[in-house]
Amino acid sequence: MSEYIIETEGLTKRYREKIAVSDLDLQIPRGEVFGFLGPNGAGKTTTILMLLGLTEPTHGTAAVCGFNPTTQPLDVKSRVGYLPENPGFYEDLTARENLAYIARLNRIGEDRLPDLLHDVLDQVGLADDGDRPVREFSRGMKQRLGIGEVLVKEPEVIILDEPTLGIDPDGVTRLLELISKLRRERGLTVLLCSHLLHQVQQVCQRIGIIVSSRMIVQGTPDELGKAILKEHQWNFLVEVAGDAPLEEALGALSGVDQCERRESGWFIRCTRDVRPELMTLIRDRGIDLLQLRAEDPTLEEIYLKYFREA
Ligand SMILES: Nc1ncnc2c1ncn2[C@@H]1O[C@H](COP(=O)(O)OP(=O)(O)OP(=O)(O)O)[C@@H](O)[C@H]1O
Ligand SMILES: [Mg+2]
Repeated sequence: MSEYIIETEGLTKRYREKIAVSDLDLQIPRGEVFGFLGPNGAGKTTTILMLLGLTEPTHGTAAVCGFNPTTQPLDVKSRVGYLPENPGFYEDLTARENLAYIARLNRIGEDRLPDLLHDVLDQVGLADDGDRPVREFSRGMKQRLGIGEVLVKEPEVIILDEPTLGIDPDGVTRLLELISKLRRERGLTVLLCSHLLHQVQQVCQRIGIIVSSRMIVQGTPDELGKAILKEHQWNFLVEVAGDAPLEEALGALSGVDQCERRESGWFIRCTRDVRPELMTLIRDRGIDLLQLRAEDPTLEEIYLKYFREA
């Protein structure tokens, strides 16, 4: 069996004229949280639907837990927990009853149910709300119940489509902590889809960015950072003594794209290493240089750059 729990080769989906996913190669090893990032309409949900056997690829192949989603959809579905973009619940039933329903659908033995439901409610932070009807739940609580429904299946891999949508910052933090914990404690593999990079980067071992149906870059957050450095994006923080008006001169240096005022100096984005000219400029004006520091581009910048290029 392949070491990858999710693997695709040349996976492609075309809806009439429209290519939704183009030639996608994915390799996600067991126990990894993979961030699948891209703007609206990039092809994330379509990819997931193909992985689950809910829609057929036009070309290419996919294997999930070693099974072909198109020809062996039940084998895939029994091993994958899937949280759709808009999960639905039985609103008049309690959280526990909703979970029990899903557990029975997945043939979990009645004798195991009480303990399992207790554990899952606890794990998703709904231990005190298990016996309330879901109609009383906030959006964040429903999202956590959705994760509960995913876990109650005791899956090998979970696929979450925009799980942080509509949740407040505190709820997002708790959800991301839960995802990290599941990986750490249970070795779960997670495919985490989102268009919000800064939210998911903290919990992902690797990230792939898909834009207009194509995966344009993938790797660890570090590797993405290095990729951009190779393309000569340099960021520097410049601090000088006093209140010297340097902004215009900095902005006029060849290779400087952008110059932003910071609390105690300037932050400049450059297409090359401008440090030698910068030192000369500052020295020529008789200004004391307090600090000149290179800063790695943030993932946010990387993400935006790739979005702009696509
Ligand atoms: N059933 C369909 N019929 C025709 N076109 C479709 C269908 N489903 C998706 N598409 C198109 O395929 C493209 C990819 O859509 P998809 O839903 O996969 O994007 P997404 O990355 O999940 O976006 P979002 O972040 O908005 O959820 C879009 O252009 C969409 O209009
Ligand atoms: Mg989507």
